[in-house]
Amino acid sequence: MYTRKNDMEQDVERAAVRFVCDLFERNRRLSEGPVIDQVDEEVLREVEAMGIPAEGRPLEDVVLDMEHDVIGYGYNCDHARFMGMVPGPTSAVSWLGDMIASGYNRHAGGVANYPAGCRAEQVLLRWLCNQAGFPQTATGVFTSGGSMANMTASIAARDARLPQDRWGDGVAYISEQTHSSAAKGLHMIGVPDARIRKIPVDEGMRMRVDELERAITADEQAGLRPFLVIATAGTTNTGAVDPLREIAGICDAHDLWMHVDGAFGASVLLTRYRDMLDGIELADSLTWDAHKWLFQTYSCGMVLVRDAHDLLRSFATHPEYLKDLEESAAEDALINPWELSPELTRPARGIKLWFTLQVMGSEGMARSIEHGFDLARWAEDELRRTPGAEVVTPAQMAMCTFRFCPDGLDAAALDELNQRVSQRMLASGYAGIFTTEIGGKKVLRICAIHPRTSEGEMREVVRRLAALADEEAAVMRGVQVGTSR
Ligand SMILES: Cc1ncc(COP(=O)(O)O)c(C=O)c1O
Repeated sequence: MYTRKNDMEQDVERAAVRFVCDLFERNRRLSEGPVIDQVDEEVLREVEAMGIPAEGRPLEDVVLDMEHDVIGYGYNCDHARFMGMVPGPTSAVSWLGDMIASGYNRHAGGVANYPAGCRAEQVLLRWLCNQAGFPQTATGVFTSGGSMANMTASIAARDARLPQDRWGDGVAYISEQTHSSAAKGLHMIGVPDARIRKIPVDEGMRMRVDELERAITADEQAGLRPFLVIATAGTTNTGAVDPLREIAGICDAHDLWMHVDGAFGASVLLTRYRDMLDGIELADSLTWDAHKWLFQTYSCGMVLVRDAHDLLRSFATHPEYLKDLEESAAEDALINPWELSPELTRPARGIKLWFTLQVMGSEGMARSIEHGFDLARWAEDELRRTPGAEVVTPAQMAMCTFRFCPDGLDAAALDELNQRVSQRMLASGYAGIFTTEIGGKKVLRICAIHPRTSEGEMREVVRRLAALADEEAAVMRGVQVGTSR
């Protein structure tokens, strides 16, 4: 029987078709425009004034408000010259996969709700576990991102290594360069700051294994229970990789859980540079974000574990109202995702990645990731030719950090100068480059993972940054001279 569309359905359909076409075109041409769509106060006031109406408004009007007022402003992270943040550019294919998945709106907490989709996610997770070199017992689950993946792994680690009556003695080890989400996740599961050790790093920004071993031994001697080391494969600041094999050896010797935060860097496993991650296969768990270097729309993170039981131990629940779902999963020989993570209701997050890999193939994906290595090298090369530019950490993965150090400015002024260079570049709309701090100094950081950024653009970004630094230096020297008079 054919059911006629009602007026609302017709409106939604018309708006959806127009909106999708417009949006596709907007995304396709994004890199021709500025890296930031600045919002002005008037727009913010308009959004405020819209409030929440008692009676609905015409759909077309609200769609236009969404496009022009609500969603249309901000950093264009998908832009080819936006190099400011790790969660980076999205492929149009992922965007389409995401729309299909959200359009079907499967409740992806249980196998029965989306049996074939769940199978596709499992095939994908198994393939990713294989890339990591994990054994056949391994599994994983999609999370909203790296932060939740790190927290999920910390819970699994605690439950695997600490009896409940010793949770209060558990000690975890991270490095000075570990992403803040690791300590945040530990905090969320009740590990206080006083039992999170920040291990110093070496000159390459890697966790120092001698310091790690010393700290663990000291804690053991103090009667505490070291239970977890969080190593990083691709740090947020510099792209450094901790000495994974050596850390695994220490974890093994002291019976600690080894988690690797590969939110950014695990994608290197798919490339010809995979040897950089030697030792990752020894980890108990691994964070891997597809919304970073696998070009997926947010939110698409993963936690992989070398043994499925380590997630089941922490997260499997069997309430009476889910028994029907449990039985159908058992028939399918698949594990319900809700038994592997803190979430019950969840979107089918993995489907867009599965869809993307079906379209691109693993080789296409590898080529796209490898381009990031080239971009960082071109940036470093251009910086080394630029007078007054100092490469602080060389190209590692898709990262390079640097600062401009013109003569005649003191340390505080140099920090200020580099900050201003970042702000002015952003305001110019040409590129998005942010600052971070290394060794107490403000530095600029390029994280260049866009597959369509060209060598010419990368070099031009550096040249424009250098020109801005020259201009700012001239202004600041004037100010410094003025103040000292
Ligand atoms: C190494 C690393 N771990 C974890 C995270 C947090 O990931 P998310 O923002 O997806 O929660 C990031 C984010 O940039 C990261 O670079």
